Amino acid sequence: MEIKFSLSDIEAFEKQDRTNLINGLSGYKSAHLIGTKNVSGLNNLAIFSSVVHIGANPPLIGFVHRPATVERHTYENIKETGHFTINHVPIELYQQAHQTSARYPRNESEFDACGFTEFYGEVLSAPYVLESPIKIGLTLEEEILVKSNQTIILIGKVQEIYLAPEFILESGVLNLSAARTLIVQGLETYYKSEKIGTLTYAKPNSTV
Ligand SMILES: Cc1cc2nc3c(=O)[nH]c(=O)nc-3n(C[C@H](O)[C@H](O)[C@H](O)COP(=O)(O)O)c2cc1C
Repeated sequence: MEIKFSLSDIEAFEKQDRTNLINGLSGYKSAHLIGTKNVSGLNNLAIFSSVVHIGANPPLIGFVHRPATVERHTYENIKETGHFTINHVPIELYQQAHQTSARYPRNESEFDACGFTEFYGEVLSAPYVLESPIKIGLTLEEEILVKSNQTIILIGKVQEIYLAPEFILESGVLNLSAARTLIVQGLETYYKSEKIGTLTYAKPNSTV
């Protein structure tokens, strides 16, 4: 027999239990490292799982940021410079990637503290993660405040992508299994992916 949680049950949960339950409900997510640098040259690296495809033309990717009610380095740096990088995480580095979620002081680089290497392209001031199999450079395009809870959706326009040729097929499809990119459930449980099949474009009255 299934159990059922009503909204009032959910609201009555301990805060941590509610957070764990609700954070897992939207399913598995890719774990990404977002790299930024402030105008004084201090860099920052933090793990984010709410990264989402917004559109392909123009190429837009967004992510959901917690309310900016306390010091938020990623948010502040993106607002200052308009630049950020989204870096896929190789599964082997999941513990280091998780550690970037700790609240390091502004003048302490998570690159150094968590064992990642900065890499700079020619277009953006924000650092990429050298160890990342798929690195995406973006400029801030739009910021949306979610009125219901003050979270912020930041949308960036893709300016450049770095990846090894074996991680992309001729059709442009990414081979994320080959890139061994990390998956996360909620804020603490990490997974690796397993491909189960590739299908053709679905149309009514034909089988894929
Ligand atoms: C697996 C995981 C996923 C996370 N995803 C997000 C997210 O999507 N949005 C967010 O605002 N914070 C997220 N966080 C929390 C940030 O990593 C954390 O607030 C971090 O300290 C932000 O650092 P900053 O202040 O240096 O930007 C996540 C943490 C973990 C462990």
